[in-house]
Amino acid sequence: MVSEFEIKKQICDIGKRIYDRRMVAANDGNISVKISDNEYLCTPTGVSKGFMTPEYICKIDGEGNVLQANGKFKPSSEIKMHLRVYQKRPDVKAVVHAHPIYATSFAIAGIPLTQPIMPEAVIALGCVPIAEYGTPSTMEIPDNVEKYLPYFDAVLLENHGALAYSDSLLAAYHKMESLEFYAELLFHSRQLGGPKEFDKEQIKRLYEIRRQFGLPGKHPADLCPSAKAGGMSCHSCGVPSCSAAGVKTPITDNNADADMVAEITRKVMEKLGK
Ligand code: 13P
Repeated sequence: MVSEFEIKKQICDIGKRIYDRRMVAANDGNISVKISDNEYLCTPTGVSKGFMTPEYICKIDGEGNVLQANGKFKPSSEIKMHLRVYQKRPDVKAVVHAHPIYATSFAIAGIPLTQPIMPEAVIALGCVPIAEYGTPSTMEIPDNVEKYLPYFDAVLLENHGALAYSDSLLAAYHKMESLEFYAELLFHSRQLGGPKEFDKEQIKRLYEIRRQFGLPGKHPADLCPSAKAGGMSCHSCGVPSCSAAGVKTPITDNNADADMVAEITRKVMEKLGK
């Protein structure tokens, strides 16, 4: 088992990475790791995440009560947002919040990252919606992020930044890195006359690859009833789980039917041991 001290060192390493890669400026950003059912390690508030050492890292419980903190260090002002992710996503073991330049620019412009333009982003990331603006450090952010958590592994925070989470700290960091790379490509291709998007068949094949890899997390390939039934995906269909991504297609009875059919199919396959 990895020791608590070792995890604190890993948090410092990831803090340095996000700082060095200009995903955060000055004292921005925060990182947390779930270490047991009711214990979390997190970065302190108001320090540069690029220059932390293990004694900076705080320990809290699921309500945000401080279990251990050295000297003047206090848990991140955004810890409520992290705790909401852990509450709603028991599969998540680490959360990274940063302000990467391109992803945050899309969050400021109000453009969700839903255009299917490159294989890695479609396979690993899926769609990235924008949670409505909330005042930093208040309950507004966790409350606004909540509805996206069951369907997505990364969320943009309107006029603020980005949030990524996964089943390990490295995976959560990688999600943030992929999100920023995808946003950067999207930004540049929009300047070059607009990206050429994948068509329905190409998306279907990429989703199939994701299923074959058995990648963890929540993704339209696993959640979108329409995609499962061979139809359009979250990247463009607007069924209930997908419309949360900011795709404006109205939710229709057909979508509800598709949801029900997918659920029944899943149960039947489960019974058959498939
Ligand atoms: P903390 O230093 O309190 O974690 O806040 C940084 C930040 O980026 C707030 O959004």
